[in-house]
Amino acid sequence: MTESLSVRVFADRSDACRTLAAEVASLVRRINDSGRPAVLGLATGRTPLPFYAELIRLHREGELSFSKVITFNLDEYLGLPGTHPESYRAFMQRELFAQVDILPENVHIPDGMVAGEALEGHCGAYEEAIRAAGGIDFQLLGIGRTGHIGFNEPGSPRQSRTRMVELDPVTRQDAAPSFGGLEQVPTHAISMGCGTILEARKIALLAWGAGKAAIVREALTGPISDQVSASFLQEHPDATFYLDAEAGSAL
Ligand code: GLP
Repeated sequence: MTESLSVRVFADRSDACRTLAAEVASLVRRINDSGRPAVLGLATGRTPLPFYAELIRLHREGELSFSKVITFNLDEYLGLPGTHPESYRAFMQRELFAQVDILPENVHIPDGMVAGEALEGHCGAYEEAIRAAGGIDFQLLGIGRTGHIGFNEPGSPRQSRTRMVELDPVTRQDAAPSFGGLEQVPTHAISMGCGTILEARKIALLAWGAGKAAIVREALTGPISDQVSASFLQEHPDATFYLDAEAGSAL
C-alpha cells in the first residue's frame, strides 16, 4: 500500500456519510467561492444512498447548493432508456437530482440507448465534456464484488477510457434481484475507464458490510492489478476509503 491511499474506518455508515458529506459540501463551497463550478463524479448502487441522503439534508438546511455543480456519473447500463427504473439515470434523478437545486444541463450520464456506430463517438464526447468542465474535482466510488470501480471489470486496463464494457457474471448476479431475474440484467454497459477515474483530483471509495471486507482488503493491500480495478487507487495521490467497521474488519 502506498502512503497516499488512506483508510478511515467509522463505527457505522451514517457516521462515514455525515463526515464525507460535510467534506464534499465544504469542497463545493471553496471551489464555488474561487469563482468556478465544482465538478463531481457520482456513483450508483446501494452504497451511496446514505451519502446522497446526507447531501440532500445539507441542501435543505441551506449548507449546500448544487446551482454551481456539474456532475458526471460513472456508468450506465446499455440498452436501458433513462425511463427504466433500474437505469442509472432514473436512479440519480430519484435519489439525488430531484431533491436538490442542480441544473439539468449540468448533469451528465452516459446514454444507455446509443448503439452501433454512435457508441464510440458518444464515449469520446463524454470524455471531452469532462475535459471541457476542467476535470473532476471529486469522484465518489463504490466497489463491486469483482473489485470493480464504475463497471471496470477484471481485465480493464489502467489506461482505459469511457467505453462499452461487458459485465462480469458475478456483477450480473448481484444485480439480478433488483431486475427481477438474471435474464433481465443487461449484459453490457458504458463506463468511465480506470484512466478516466484516476484523473479525478480527489477520490472517495465507500464500502459497507461484511460482504465487502474481503474485496476491500484485496484492493487496499493486494497487488496493483487489472484483476481488481480498485487496486489502481493505491497509486492515486489523494484517494481515501471510507468504511464501516464490518467492511474494515479484514484489514
Ligand atoms: C454496480 C455499480 C458500481 C457499484 C457496484 C456495487 O456495479 N456500477 O458503481 O459500486 O454496483 O453496488 P452496491 O453499492 O449496491 O454494493
